[in-house]
Amino acid sequence: MTATKGLEGIVATTSSISSIIDGVLTYRGIDIDDLAENATFEEVAYLLWYGKLPNRSELARLLKDLNQFAAVPPQVIDQIKTYPKDTNSMAALRSAVSSLSLYDNEANDMSQESNLRKAIKLQAQIPTIIAAFARIREGKEPIAPKSCDSVAENFLYMLIGKDPDKVAIEALDKALVLHADHELNASTFAARVTVATLSDIYSGVTSAIGALKGPLHGGANEAVMAMLEEIGTADNAEAYVNKKLENKEKIMGFGHRVYKNGDPRAKHLQKMSQELGKITGNLNWYNMSIKIEELVTGQKGLKPNVDFYSASVYTSLEIPRDLFTPIFAISRASGWTAHILEQYENNRLIRPRAEYTGLSNQKYIPIENR
Ligand code: ACO
Repeated sequence: MTATKGLEGIVATTSSISSIIDGVLTYRGIDIDDLAENATFEEVAYLLWYGKLPNRSELARLLKDLNQFAAVPPQVIDQIKTYPKDTNSMAALRSAVSSLSLYDNEANDMSQESNLRKAIKLQAQIPTIIAAFARIREGKEPIAPKSCDSVAENFLYMLIGKDPDKVAIEALDKALVLHADHELNASTFAARVTVATLSDIYSGVTSAIGALKGPLHGGANEAVMAMLEEIGTADNAEAYVNKKLENKEKIMGFGHRVYKNGDPRAKHLQKMSQELGKITGNLNWYNMSIKIEELVTGQKGLKPNVDFYSASVYTSLEIPRDLFTPIFAISRASGWTAHILEQYENNRLIRPRAEYTGLSNQKYIPIENR
């Protein structure tokens, strides 16, 4: 038995949800470029869950459900109020999502109908949790969700406490489309491993949030912004990048396990970053990002991934840096839950083997002799 480090290149399951073939990402066979230009996030979520795009009445029904389920049980809001104010936002989200199951009387109902309903509930409630956490830590009262035309609109409304502008809603909506699913990424795999034991959907999504938190995965978007803030202006980029690369340190937001010739999502976020920079009158983050890309691609051949330009996009939307990864979770909740439903449909316990590299032929030593 020989291990493959990081399971690189290992095909661990079949899936009909999303694919990455020759560098092209599709959701249910539709190119991400097509979806990014034309679809709303709710259409994409429907596509991931049901395997087809919704017609008008199906979409209206989904929006109705998302609005209806968006309120979070008051006990969970009360719990969030007890979290230390400086709690890591992904740790807060992970804890609160785990708690949701305690107050859902169908949490352990394993029927397909119930699991699909819980997928929609989770999709609806994750934004509410994040917005509530963001306000509570600032000493403000959380804002209840209202009936909105999109998940993006409701989230921004609950976060800022007033109706968000159209540009911000559209930008966030597109970012949600771009992050919704990505084949067997680390957090989705974590979700599938968890539910393959026939554990519940809340456990699966809690596992996924834990995996997304890390800086090698979803946490990279926050790390990118921390880097941009540290660099300050495009003029300082060269010295920063050279030093990092000389020290063999990673530049966050670059590289990908699967894409070696570039992440197809990055160009959309780059364009958005530029457009939002023009609208806000601050192109500093965009210009700096372009310069960093030039340097890193030039010197290492590494291309930006989805996290690189999303950092400047969210900053232009005035979203606090530590909410970037939670926003990724809002979007990826659709993919996670679609994969969980798919796993339940054709389940087998996921239990690989390990190549043993430890000692052998050891004997027990009594404690007094150690
Ligand atoms: N900066 C500098 N060098 C890099 C980077 C980077 N961002 N990414 C990879 N490399 C180098 C490595 O140092 C290594 O070089 P070596 O062979 O000389 O040691 C080589 O490229 C291969 O890197 P690995 O880390 O082994 O590649 P892997 O496929 O395991 O990692 C990963 C992919 C984790 C995304 C990696 O590129 C990385 O750490 N990037 C930065 C973090 C990041 O942006 N993560 C978000 C990914 S997208 C997502 O999850 C949403």
